[in-house]
Amino acid sequence: MGLNDGTSIRRAPHSCLRSLMATFCSSLCRRYPEPGKHIVYDTLDLETVPLNGGFFSRRSSSPSTHMRGQMREAHIPSYMPAFPMGEPIYGAGIGAVLCSEHSDIKASDHVTGLIPHQQYSVVKVAPPLRKIENPHHLPWSFVLGVLGMPGQTAFMGWSECSRAKKGETVFLSAGAGVVGSLVIQLAKMDGYKVIASVGSDEKSLIHERMRSRCRIQL
Ligand SMILES: NC(=O)c1ccc[n+]([C@@H]2O[C@H](COP(=O)([O-])OP(=O)(O)OC[C@H]3O[C@@H](n4cnc5c(N)ncnc54)[C@H](OP(=O)(O)O)[C@@H]3O)[C@@H](O)[C@H]2O)c1
Repeated sequence: MGLNDGTSIRRAPHSCLRSLMATFCSSLCRRYPEPGKHIVYDTLDLETVPLNGGFFSRRSSSPSTHMRGQMREAHIPSYMPAFPMGEPIYGAGIGAVLCSEHSDIKASDHVTGLIPHQQYSVVKVAPPLRKIENPHHLPWSFVLGVLGMPGQTAFMGWSECSRAKKGETVFLSAGAGVVGSLVIQLAKMDGYKVIASVGSDEKSLIHERMRSRCRIQL
């Protein structure tokens, strides 16, 4: 068996773990997920689970609004494929590798990419996952937030699309959303006065924390 250190199967210190928990299955969910229907619990013996050249990881997930559109019947066209019925839904996430037979990925590595929404996953064939280098020891959650898709969306939107000119005031709708709150911070770092709209008192508190100088509550 091909192993990452060439000697023996490397099992993580979590070898007493025997649960593969909470698989979010893709059957159409109109309101809240129901245990047993949309959330399925299963068990797995980490000491014996076949890795088949892959690796075993614990995931941190980042559910995104676009995933709602993937929960639909497959015949309905859209810009993202429908989630296959009865299989785990997938999305951007981080996998903390517990044990591995993969030649490029070893235990304690962290990987990111589209991975199943399962608390623990055996990844058998390497999908387009990227190993995360973290030389500054940043919180891993940053990879899904400020350094991930929301941060990249905010950065590209602000730097490439805003066309803001020095001295102008920036107005932002959905200012308390993931992307909006990051755009506010980028605009403020560039020295702009920012006015943003939010939909509730609770959300306006987020603005106070970011010290956007003015706000409109809708
Ligand atoms: N997150 C990403 O990585 C990403 C990537 C690419 C594109 N996008 C796009 O960027 C936009 C923001 O995404 P997000 O992740 O920041 O979403 P989010 O955190 O869910 O924030 C969206 C906010 O939009 C506001 N909103 C909802 N309906 C509205 C309406 N009819 N008019 C004005 N505001 C409305 C709501 O805030 P209030 O209740 O405070 O009004 C809501 O909280 C979305 O269009 C999303 O598709 C996001």
